[in-house]
This record gives sequence, C-alpha cells and structure tokens, in this order.
Amino acid sequence: MTTQSISYPYGSGYHAWLAYQEITDADQRQRYAVWCSQISTNETHETIRAAAAELERGVSSLLGAKPAVTSELGEGGIVLGTFGGNEQIAAVWKSELPDIGEDGYAIRTESGRIVIGAPSAAGVLYGAFHLLRLIGSGEPLDALDVTERPANGLRMINQWDNIDGSIERGYAGRSIFYDQDEITTDLDRIRDYARLLSSVGLNAIAINNVNVHKYETMFLTDRYLPQIAALADVFRVYGIKLFLSINYASPLEIGGLSTADPLAPAVREWWKAKAAEVYAAIPDFGGFLVKADSENRPGPFSYDRDHADGANMLAEALLPYGGLVIWRCFVYNCKQDWRDRSTDRARAAYDHFKPLDGRFMDNVILQIKNGPMDFQVREPVSPLFGAMEHTNQVIEFQVTQEYTGQQRHVCYLVPQWKEVLDFNTYAKGEASPVKRIVDGSVFQRRHNGFAAVSNIGADSNWTGHLLAQANLYGFGRLAWNPEATSEQIAREWVTLALSRSEQVIRTVCGILLDSLDIYESYTAPLGVGWMVNPNHHYGPNVDGYEYDKWGTYHFADCHGIGVDRTVASGTGYAGQYQGANAVAYESLENCPDELLLFFHHVPYTHKLHSGVTVIQHIYNTHFDGAERAAQLVERWGELESVLDDQIYAQVAERLSEQAEHAKEWRDIINTYFLRKSGIADEQGRTIY
Ligand code: GCU
Repeated sequence: MTTQSISYPYGSGYHAWLAYQEITDADQRQRYAVWCSQISTNETHETIRAAAAELERGVSSLLGAKPAVTSELGEGGIVLGTFGGNEQIAAVWKSELPDIGEDGYAIRTESGRIVIGAPSAAGVLYGAFHLLRLIGSGEPLDALDVTERPANGLRMINQWDNIDGSIERGYAGRSIFYDQDEITTDLDRIRDYARLLSSVGLNAIAINNVNVHKYETMFLTDRYLPQIAALADVFRVYGIKLFLSINYASPLEIGGLSTADPLAPAVREWWKAKAAEVYAAIPDFGGFLVKADSENRPGPFSYDRDHADGANMLAEALLPYGGLVIWRCFVYNCKQDWRDRSTDRARAAYDHFKPLDGRFMDNVILQIKNGPMDFQVREPVSPLFGAMEHTNQVIEFQVTQEYTGQQRHVCYLVPQWKEVLDFNTYAKGEASPVKRIVDGSVFQRRHNGFAAVSNIGADSNWTGHLLAQANLYGFGRLAWNPEATSEQIAREWVTLALSRSEQVIRTVCGILLDSLDIYESYTAPLGVGWMVNPNHHYGPNVDGYEYDKWGTYHFADCHGIGVDRTVASGTGYAGQYQGANAVAYESLENCPDELLLFFHHVPYTHKLHSGVTVIQHIYNTHFDGAERAAQLVERWGELESVLDDQIYAQVAERLSEQAEHAKEWRDIINTYFLRKSGIADEQGRTIY
C-alpha cells in the first residue's frame, strides 16, 4: 500500500541537518563528553521524552558514546524539564525566570551541569535541538546562558500533497503521507519529518493540498479521520499541531445539503457538528486552511456572500475548541481576457480583502502570499501587509521551487524572504517592516506568523536537490527569528548537514548565497516575471502566458516591454502602497531597477540607474547568469575529494543540468528580444 520504511545511509542525505556527524577530533570530543555522559529528566510528558531521546541519539552519534538516560535529575550532564513541572530547574533561573513566551527556552551551564528549562514541553524540545546544534557546530558549552523566544506564534508548513500520492508543485518524488487513496502507515518517515520540522521550531502543519478534491474532502469523515488522528499523534509529540485544508463546498459534497451558503442556518449547524466530530478524534486539532473562490475552487461568492461571511462561519464552528481558520488571500480572476488592459491580477488580493478589514472574527487569520502575483523570482511585496490594521495576518512563502528552478536548479531563497520581511510598509510611521506586521507587533494582533509550501517528498534526501534542504531549514529558522542572516542560516545548514570542514562551508555557502542572483539573471528580467512553459512552469517560454487567461503578461512589442501599473496612466496598482513606496513605484525615475518592468512599460532603450539600457541589461545578465551557472559546477567540483561520494554525486548531477538549462534560458530570452527589438548586443556576442 505504501512505501516501506527503508534504512537510509548517510550518503543519501536522509538525515539532513540532523545527521549528527561524528566529531573526529579526539580533544574536542573529550571536551563535549564531560557534559554529555548523562541526560536526565524526571518529567514524563511525551514531548520531553522525545527531547531526551533526541539528545541521546544526537550525543551518541556526535561523540560515538551512548549517554545514560535517567529519570532522576543528575548532578552532572544534561538536565531538562519545564519550569512549572520542576522546582530544581526553575531554581536555576531563581526569581528572574526569563520572559520567553509559551514556546521559548533557556539553557544555562551551572554547577557542572547543562540545564535546559522552558515554560512548555515543546520549549524543552526546542532547547534540546538548540544544544545539539551547538555541539554539531563545534561551539563551547562551558558558559552557556541562552534565552530564546520565537518571534512568531504560528510557524507553519503547508503540504500540497494529494491522497493519490502526487504532490501539487512537488519536485522531490511522491508524497510521504499518501499513496493510492490511502493514508500512509509508514509512521517512521512521518516521525522523521516531524523531527526535522520541530528541530527548526515549526509548530503547525496542514497535511493536504489547498486544492481539495473529491477524496480529500472526505478527510472530515470516518473514511479517513482515524488515520488522520494517528498522524496527529505523531506530530503532537514534536509540538506540531495538525491542520486540514478543507473544501468550502463540503456541506454539498459530503453533507447531503443543497447549499454551502455561509449564512444558511443548516450550513452553519453542519460545520459545527463537523468540528465536534473532528475534535472528538483530535482534541488539539489546529483548524482549517481554506482556499476559496480562487482558481476554480468553491467559495462564498457563489451565494453572493463575501470572504468575511465565509471565514466567520467556519471560525464560529471552531471557536469552542480554540481552533483557527486560516483563509488564503490568493484570490483573483483566472479567466481574464488578455486583450483587456484594465484588469490587473496584481491588484486582486488588496481589492478583495482590504475593504473587509475589521470584519473577521478573532480566530480567523488571513494568509497572504509574499508578493501580489505568485512566488516569482522577483516581484514586489504584497501591499496587503500593513493595509489591514484590524485583521490577523500570516505571510505565505513557497519553499517548493515552482518558479525558481523546481529543485533542479539551486536557488537558496532565504535572501529573497529576508528582503520581503525587511520591507518597510510605512503602515504605522517609519518602522513598520513586514516582519513586524506578521509577528503581530505593529497592530497588536493575537494570531500571527509564517506559513510556507513545503518542498519535501519521498526522495531519500527529502528535497530532490540536496541543497534545497537549506530552504526548508531556513524557513523554519526565519519563522523563529527573522533577524537571523542568510549567511548564518546557510552556514548552520552546511555545517550540520554536510561537513564541519571550513573548505566545504566556505564553498557551499558561497554557492547558496550566489544562487538566487544567478537564477534571476538568466530568467525573466527586471521583475516582469513568468516567461515559463504553461502548466508545469519549468523552462523558458517568453510568450507562454502572454495570450492566456491567467493575467500574467509582459506586453513586449518591437518598441518596449513592461506593465504600466502606475496610478497616472496604468492599472493603479502602485497606489495600493503607502507613503514613500507608492511614490517610488509610481515614478519612472525612482522605481528600483529590479522592479522596473513590474511597474512601468518602457522602451528597450530606457536607461536604468545602473547606466545600461534595458535591452543591454537583458543581454548582459543572461550571458553573465549562464556563465555563473556553469561556474557552480566547477565550484562544487572542488569538493569531490572531501565529501561523501553519494552526496557529492547527487549535487554534481543537478548542477550540470542547471548549467545546460541556463544556456537554454539565455539563448531563448536573448533571441526573443533581439528579434523583437532589432537592437544588437553592444558586445557582439552570439545571439540566434
Ligand atoms: C500557484 C500554483 C498552483 C496552486 C496555487 C495556490 O498558482 O501554480 O498549483 O494551487 O498557486 O497557491 O493555490
């Protein structure tokens, strides 16, 4: 029925950043051994047990010696527990227990012991993973005084997995959750996934695709609920709450009703009864994730109701149990006429949701994609962040690389996400960056956080491209602490997953940190986006979406290219921003180069701030990007003798494919624009 558990060797990459590679330096091992001979906790909570088990596993592997695990707090070694459940642990922080929220933790070296203390069991587990990270990266333990508190309440991953075992926009094999219309019984693999997620601080998962089809609609019935409860049991141990994506038309499809109108009493009762059933099976169920009235999915519009009516109806059903409704803002007209220049897909989320500010119940959270379009390599930040003072908001990133190389190209996305998080919305004076909107601090919102579409599948290394693990790792680390830098995160991942060798760290971090810029260079230019093959979205096709219904156009002709989104002469999208952003995007002079074609239609001869013309920029970046992609192969090649053979080979193969494919991008884009514009490359390079 499902894939059998396989024992994965290290070289497969299966253990990812929990590889706990043995420390080979005997002195260093000895220094750690002093602290690690014993692990003790006198609490029996399953999550604290999991923390102790993880420490046991990690220490055994890192130091090559199994520590004793005891249920009486030891005089030495590693001691762990909650402040509330354990006076001895609370006493370490005496009266100054740190203010670290529910999920935070503290670690101290004191009287010959390392003590991990936290307000909750999940906090203790996060603390255990922190300590293992320190050992894994060679940090000293003699004088630890760590306090950590996550910036965001909800730190969530969204699986786009389908019950038939396929994954929407999945690039790492089949689903680990489902196969042939059944839920997996391989709970070992699910447990290992839960460990990976929890180790980076993630605390919520929606286990099915936001496009909820016939069988997945039945997740809310006895047909599937018992097995879903078994999955929830696994995730619970690791502090992760389970959510389900639901079909808005469920009352019609599985409830025998003739309507799904959110204001119809029978529909409201139906959802209340459903919520009761779900909570009977999963008492700590997280709630519903909803894609409604979007890309042909049903929603409240069919009944002349709006998104607030729809979301609140579900929120009312979940409220008695503390459940959440996470309502996606990815709502736009996907049946546009390409001839119609007045409709602008970029405007849609703001136009739909901004007028509803203040109408959502307190247990509703809007989930907003980072940009107004759809996870392109470059697009502006969604103007909806900061525009809804009275509404809970979480940001949605896409870890799966739908438009960024589909895990065949390396593209480390953390720098892109950092740019989005640091973007100042001007919502409340000067300092209102996106990260402070979504952590709830600017508008004092109770529910807040990060969500992202997962990039894992049943491939033995989880992510297909081994280096794509760094994106999942980085998403979790940023959700916990958006101040962490791209460099720090890359370094951590390389050290923990690949090697502690300085040469490996330097080379791989270099590759990761250059990769986004390289990818952007040889794909769609200057923020205009798309230019990919329809449907599967891999590979160049400049006009692939130009005469289509999806609202994603570049308007290239023989004179120029770009979308006029100004208030003065275009779609008015630039006016959705606040303060200095609206001013900058509106003006051709001030618009940043990298977003020029997103906001303006310009002649090919338009000069950028960089001093080169648009057409010459296109040629230069495409030649340069393809060349730098080829250099990635050589840079990785330097590691052949230092890395595990299998690990080396996996990445080498993908980088070669990328180098070849980058040439395809370069030549198709350059040729297209040479033919359209008739303007030659100043440097006379080969264009076809
Ligand atoms: C993109 C993606 C779809 C997905 C959608 C969404 O458009 O191509 O496959 O369903 O995003 O976020 O809902």
